[in-house]
Amino acid sequence: MIDNNRGRIVGINGNMLTVEFDTFVTQNEVAYAIAGDKKLKCEVIRVRGNNADMQVYESTNGLKIGEAVEFTDELLSVDLAPGLLKMVFDGLQNPLDKLAEHSGFFLEKGVYLKPLDEKVKWDFTPLLKPGDKVIAGDYVGHVPEGVYTHYISFPFAALGTWEITTVAKPGKYTIIETIATAKNDKGETKEITMLQKWPVKVPITSYKEKLLPEKTLITQQRIIDSFFPVATGGTFCTPGPFGAGKTVLQHAISQHAQVDIVIIAACGERAGEVVEILREFPHLEDPKTGKTLIERSIIICNTSSMPVAAREASVYTAVTLAEYYRQMGLNTLLLADSTSRWAQAMREMSGRLEEIPGEEGFPAYLESLIASFYERAGLFKLNNGKTGSITIGGAVSPAGGNFEEPVTQATLKVVGAFLGLSRERADARRYPSIHPLDSWSHYPSIIPKKQIENAQSVLRRGNEISQMMNVVGEEGTTISDFIIYLKSEFIDSVYLQQNTFDKVDGATDEERQKYVFEKVVKILDAKFKFQKKEETRKFFAELRQLFIDWNYLKFNTEDFKALEVSIDKKIKESTNA
Ligand SMILES: Nc1ncnc2c1ncn2[C@@H]1O[C@H](COP(=O)(O)OP(=O)(O)O)[C@@H](O)[C@H]1O
Ligand SMILES: [Mg+2]
Repeated sequence: MIDNNRGRIVGINGNMLTVEFDTFVTQNEVAYAIAGDKKLKCEVIRVRGNNADMQVYESTNGLKIGEAVEFTDELLSVDLAPGLLKMVFDGLQNPLDKLAEHSGFFLEKGVYLKPLDEKVKWDFTPLLKPGDKVIAGDYVGHVPEGVYTHYISFPFAALGTWEITTVAKPGKYTIIETIATAKNDKGETKEITMLQKWPVKVPITSYKEKLLPEKTLITQQRIIDSFFPVATGGTFCTPGPFGAGKTVLQHAISQHAQVDIVIIAACGERAGEVVEILREFPHLEDPKTGKTLIERSIIICNTSSMPVAAREASVYTAVTLAEYYRQMGLNTLLLADSTSRWAQAMREMSGRLEEIPGEEGFPAYLESLIASFYERAGLFKLNNGKTGSITIGGAVSPAGGNFEEPVTQATLKVVGAFLGLSRERADARRYPSIHPLDSWSHYPSIIPKKQIENAQSVLRRGNEISQMMNVVGEEGTTISDFIIYLKSEFIDSVYLQQNTFDKVDGATDEERQKYVFEKVVKILDAKFKFQKKEETRKFFAELRQLFIDWNYLKFNTEDFKALEVSIDKKIKESTNA
């Protein structure tokens, strides 16, 4: 028997169920499969006639043919309200700490908890009064959340214009208490709470327009800001083989990038990696506030006990949370590590659906899904004139570091900056291991274009000369080529490389990058009067060391200035200038 909102399992294939239904079922609708006393969350991924194919977000052990499925009529959604910051959720927005409290270390299946605490009271200040006309996304009021003002928006799903009928007095309210009521001219009424739900696969569109991302987002990583910049509201990817430093780089960016909110979508590559993130990330120091970074972050992570389908939910949940904070006029940064795991989940599901596979078995729509994810980034002008942004950076981990594979290729078609991490550089401990010859960016650098092009040409020629030297040896190289080679090595070791774990060198602000780069340019342009390779090598080794020491000194301190005098003197002695 099939009743109104129910269906019946007719097929089980790994994490995919085929369910027969009688009524009306929509794509992406959430349903629960009944397994004894447990209900397992699923999402409809394809509807054909009276059959729905659904992905289950849990292990399907224990499910049987003929068992019931309850449809909910709701799309996969997240809860949006004060209290999201500092939280660690899984892809379905279960709060992981509460889940662990509830079920112990081994997460029990079929347990779904409220994402946010509904008992906590928030200090609400209304911004509206009865009679005010509002549309979706208008601010109803605000509460303090951490160091930010968290604006409560009129439901993003509201259609047309509404008139406010009542507003709560300033005071403390939970996220489920009514703080306003509204009516429209069709005679409908609405009760507004601080909590609203939003379907993760649909972008929030309560804004006026999308602007072109043209301003460099300072990450304080020199190779990025100067050579391969990211823009506020832009997109970038960091593909690289296993162990090349993608995760370390993402942490450095999240710690030092000039954004308000950081959202991490962690789909671990190794089983222990997510545990590491949970152990380390919350303790990363926030240079901006002196507190910990987690105070202005949200982590979405997949526990290893969750099946691949949950990885898909994670990236959508993460970007929806970013959109929510963008609506408050904040700059958000979403880092996904790694999007390859998400693509693999798509491949697995597509295989089960027996779709015609594209390249390497990935679904033919891989590109369009990746594109529509990155398209949710942007710089947005809101209806109230404020601007908010979402910058998205995705790590990609192609097998063997081969960038020709479909996920990397699909990603680099849509992103604005490509920061390719190289095995070779990682092995040589040249961190961050972003390859200076393979990477590119469409966004503006903080350094004049001509100077960067000049530096890049030295790097390119230095690389050619180094390869040539491998064949003909140093003796077969002219002194002028040898100097170019040493100049390229110099810029690599003092500017492109940066010690992530040093308090000073780990973060170079815009002013310092500009200042130091001027000095680097001076050396690249210098005409040295060396006759012998030995003295040239010695000079560059000493200059390099002085420069690295300089990088470790706080900007514009007495020590910094003193060392600069020594550097200038050294350059002067060896040039004809
Ligand atoms: N910037 C860095 N400075 C020093 N060591 C690094 C740096 N980046 C990576 N490493 C080293 O490489 C290891 C692997 O880095 P990780 O970011 O986990 O790689 P991936 O995420 O690409 O697999 C780290 O544990 C660390 O030892
Ligand atoms: Mg990693």
